[in-house]
Amino acid sequence: MNWVCAACGTEIPVTAPLSWRCPAAGDDRRHVLHLRAEPVPLRGGDDPNPFIAFRRYLAWDCFAAGLGLDEEARTSLVRSLDDDVARTAGTGFRTTPYARHDGLSAALGFSGSGGVWVKDETHNVAGSHKARHLFTELLHLVALERTGRAPWRERPQLAIASCGNAAYAASTLARAVEWPISVFVPAAVDAALVEMIESVGGRVVRCPRRDGDGPGDPTVLRFREAVASGAVPFGVQGTENAWCLDGGRTIGWEIAHVEERMDAPPLDRVFVQVGGGAFSTDLAWGLFAGGLRPRVHAVQVSACAPLVRAWRIANETGGARNAGSRWERCMWPWEQVGGSIADGILDDETYDWVGACNAMADGDGWPVEVPEPVVVEAYRLAHAATDVDVSPTGSAGLAGLLAMRSEIGDDERVAVVFSGIRRSFTPEPVASGA
Ligand SMILES: Cc1ncc(COP(=O)(O)O)c(C=O)c1O
Ligand SMILES: [Zn+2]
Repeated sequence: MNWVCAACGTEIPVTAPLSWRCPAAGDDRRHVLHLRAEPVPLRGGDDPNPFIAFRRYLAWDCFAAGLGLDEEARTSLVRSLDDDVARTAGTGFRTTPYARHDGLSAALGFSGSGGVWVKDETHNVAGSHKARHLFTELLHLVALERTGRAPWRERPQLAIASCGNAAYAASTLARAVEWPISVFVPAAVDAALVEMIESVGGRVVRCPRRDGDGPGDPTVLRFREAVASGAVPFGVQGTENAWCLDGGRTIGWEIAHVEERMDAPPLDRVFVQVGGGAFSTDLAWGLFAGGLRPRVHAVQVSACAPLVRAWRIANETGGARNAGSRWERCMWPWEQVGGSIADGILDDETYDWVGACNAMADGDGWPVEVPEPVVVEAYRLAHAATDVDVSPTGSAGLAGLLAMRSEIGDDERVAVVFSGIRRSFTPEPVASGA
């Protein structure tokens, strides 16, 4: 298994320590390491912990084996870290539910053979799918320490730029192993979110835009400065730490594992909400590795849709598949980010746009840009038709399905991921236009 840069083709083995970014990138963030592995049939174990059940498909497993840890040591390292996480978060990593939702399927007019399958991440560690991405970064760091290969005497701080679920998940995992973390958040951050991050020991750093800042998100600029002075990137952007792209695949593997045992035609489509793009990249990698080929529809909101723009330009300039060498033509920060209740996907850049475009190209899908009233309606419907306490960001994939429903056959099998739980400070679901 190798890391291969999706922009310049540079390869490094997954056994290389601290291999967060493309070695040829320098300060340029328009490089991203992707995993390349010989395709092997996915045989999920039945362990309730996905990092155990699918351990042998993780790049981390290869990495840890390279450090000399045998299978038993690798398994017990995952288990002991999971115990630490469970003590902090109240739950460790467990396979999350994936099932047809009859109420939602009926509400959307699907037939008995088609319908909407919901993967529910709201009870994952820290209330969203984000911790899955971060856990392989944590495993990487801890494996280095446990084998005496860590190049530090005193732990460098971890750093993340995020204003939502990723910040809370990262702080939660950091707390589980008592590792200091700085969380770079927007100046206008919600006080309740700050409280959540601080409740698990994250050091919150507010980041107003400074004179002289270039384009892009100031929280990301401050985060990069911290990393340049020695902090470990501990976020969910593949461009800053590719190891987030390892563990996020567990969601797709879990779905594939259930699908494989179902007496039903293959999944036709998946709608996935896209902010930074790591989630969609990994979901598709996981599904495809499990032999599924649904059409992948990346869902963005009209307030901020840089991936939709990149998809169009990539198609016009040579194709959307493996478009990483055309990075500067396809992806740059969205100029005027508007407001949306799906505030977790307002990243002005889709950092993992190459992976997201590949997912759509490989699955014969395309992106959907959803107007805000439909985002609001999806959130309302999710609460009216299911008992999942999903956030507006978490139900934004469903908004894509609503927007495209008339183009979808009643017998099609469609999946969405309710990727995050509603927080106390999230607006209540209301009828559209109310
Ligand atoms: C609940 C939820 N779903 C989806 C996403 C989007 O994931 P990504 O930023 O990897 O595209 C986020 C990101 O913040 C999120 O919090
Ligand atoms: Zn590169």
